[in-house]
Amino acid sequence: MKKLRLATYLLTTTAIVTAGFAYSGLYDVSASSPHSGVVNWLLSTTSRASIERHASNVNVPDLSNESLARAGINDFNAMCIGCHGAPGQAPEAMGQGLNPPAPDLAESAAHMNPAELFWVTKHGIRMTGMPAWGATHGDEALWPVVAFMTLLPELDAVRYQVLLASADGVGHHEAGNDSAGHEHGDTDTETATEMATDHGYENAAIDDHSRHPHDPPESGDSKESEHDH
Ligand code: HEC
Repeated sequence: MKKLRLATYLLTTTAIVTAGFAYSGLYDVSASSPHSGVVNWLLSTTSRASIERHASNVNVPDLSNESLARAGINDFNAMCIGCHGAPGQAPEAMGQGLNPPAPDLAESAAHMNPAELFWVTKHGIRMTGMPAWGATHGDEALWPVVAFMTLLPELDAVRYQVLLASADGVGHHEAGNDSAGHEHGDTDTETATEMATDHGYENAAIDDHSRHPHDPPESGDSKESEHDH
């Protein structure tokens, strides 16, 4: 009985102190100040574990089709680089003020599998600047972006521009994803082609060595079944 009373007392005190802290305004929510070490650890560990767990329910389609990645670069260039940057390009002002910062996706793609990249792209990450692109885009529009991201670790600034130029006007149509239909046709084809020629990349944006074999392409459909356990 004594133990129960003590536990109730401790719980009540904790609740009052927590509520008091929340109302006090003492916690600094500004994006310009860093998280403390403990908060940082707690948030990043929770986030990493959540992504891993939820992504394990994602069925990864066959991403080895090169036209899929080519269909994704326009959307990547239009929707992602403002915060994440691209090979040879720093994030825009908006991206530079984010806390937590938007990571370089070339590094992310090197340590995250396609299912994880897809899950984060589709659902976003709460309380960070990472939007849920699934709110406005179907899976068929997001998989090309994921296919493109898997190439990022191999792309330098020039090859990025070459690929962008080669995808210009192709959009999602070549991959047969009409419903995705964006035309972000603001690529400076001429400049990219000049850069490519200068660097001797005129023939191919992606060579076979830049492809990764992906996780089991068992399922050709991009349905994602998510069940919480
Ligand atoms: C408005 C800013 C913003 C835009 C635009 C944005 N992101 Fe993000 N993204 C973030 C932030 C901030 C994080 C880091 C979140 C965190 O630390 O938990 C992030 C994280 C990610 C991650 C996880 C990376 C890792 O290493 O954990 C992926 C994958 C990702 N974004 C993909 C995309 C894709 C694909 C697009 C475009 C379709 C995109 N993002 C557009 C802000 C953005």
